[in-house]
Amino acid sequence: MKILTLGDFELKGKTVLLRVDMNCPIDPATGEISGVKRIEEATETIRALSEAKVVVVSHQGRVGNKDYIGMEQHAKILEKMLGKKITYVEDVIGSFAQSEIMKMKNGDIILLDNLRFCAEENYEFSAEDAAETIMVKRLGKLFDLCVLDSFPSAHRAHPSLVGFSHTIPACAGKIVEREVRKLEEILTVAKAPHVIVLGGSKVTDRLEAIKMLIKRGRADQILLTGLIGNVFMRAQARIKYPLGIKGEEDAVAKAHALMGEYPDVFFTPVDVAIDRDGKRVEMDVRELSKGDQIYDLGPKTIDHYSKIISSAGTVFISGPPGFFEKENFSYGTKSMLESVANSMATTIVSGGHLTSALKRYGLAEKITHISTAGGALVLYLTGETLPMIQSLESAATRFKAK
Ligand code: 3PG
Repeated sequence: MKILTLGDFELKGKTVLLRVDMNCPIDPATGEISGVKRIEEATETIRALSEAKVVVVSHQGRVGNKDYIGMEQHAKILEKMLGKKITYVEDVIGSFAQSEIMKMKNGDIILLDNLRFCAEENYEFSAEDAAETIMVKRLGKLFDLCVLDSFPSAHRAHPSLVGFSHTIPACAGKIVEREVRKLEEILTVAKAPHVIVLGGSKVTDRLEAIKMLIKRGRADQILLTGLIGNVFMRAQARIKYPLGIKGEEDAVAKAHALMGEYPDVFFTPVDVAIDRDGKRVEMDVRELSKGDQIYDLGPKTIDHYSKIISSAGTVFISGPPGFFEKENFSYGTKSMLESVANSMATTIVSGGHLTSALKRYGLAEKITHISTAGGALVLYLTGETLPMIQSLESAATRFKAK
């Protein structure tokens, strides 16, 4: 590993900025956190910093979306999990946040508000420019060490992920350390055929990563599910009505071009399950009509995809294939995970939803590597050095040169 870890630093009495990823699913109807897996993960590094003054920071949601909320709920959940007081500070870079940080004593833990409430955290920067942002200039001077433990957002070049680490000593937290070690190990032994089972709703991110995965020999067969699957089916004109998603035209055009360029790589569902008055109704994709909500894969698709998975050398699954939280629509997700777990391949399960589903079905033990990261992990597998990892590598070089 080319990055430093907590073991490389004296932590006692230090003021530490800990960047985690507590970006949780939020129930749009209630505004409540509906999955706490990432908060649970954050506790490991917080515990390891018990003798320091720890300022925890994270983003939550995207500007304009329903999941764009403050961190108060996270603080309460974190406090319960740790059994220790967490001071929630309703500020990010202002004088209130700064004075609260300066008052801290050893063992204190503060959680600042959603980093994306600060405009700069919604933009990508070079490390040098990120170090010049107001966020890094105002807060950076208050810390002895920056600990980056935000693997699910390692593909973003936001100031909190690449800026502080450019100006103050920086190292990986426990999650990032484990992810990088394990993934380096897996990528050296990964065998073909590489099968990717790809779902999820961040369609633009997915489309960008797919091409790189294929070009770099990391995707021989891509089995599409979820919203990204619908976009490809629309591009095949098998779904005949608009899906009504943001940037649809562009996404469909990209999917069309990808299928033209790599005709043997992509597989889309032949049948699906839709919700009709709360009931599961299975049908051929060609029978779908406008307004039908696709909630799951159909039995023929499950059977076909399972066969492909069973002869894979490496399987990577990201994004739930169906609305598994509803029992009626859980078959696709459960069956795909069972096929992955029972295959002889090296297996990677990615993303918060699938991590919860694995636990629910008691399959976690059979998987080679499980990560709550989604888009970041997809990009990591392409062989790209992610901005946050790059920033940790540079920080290590600077630190060792001293
Ligand atoms: C994720 O959930 O993938 C990360 O938290 C990154 O979130 P983003 O895609 O909104 O940057």
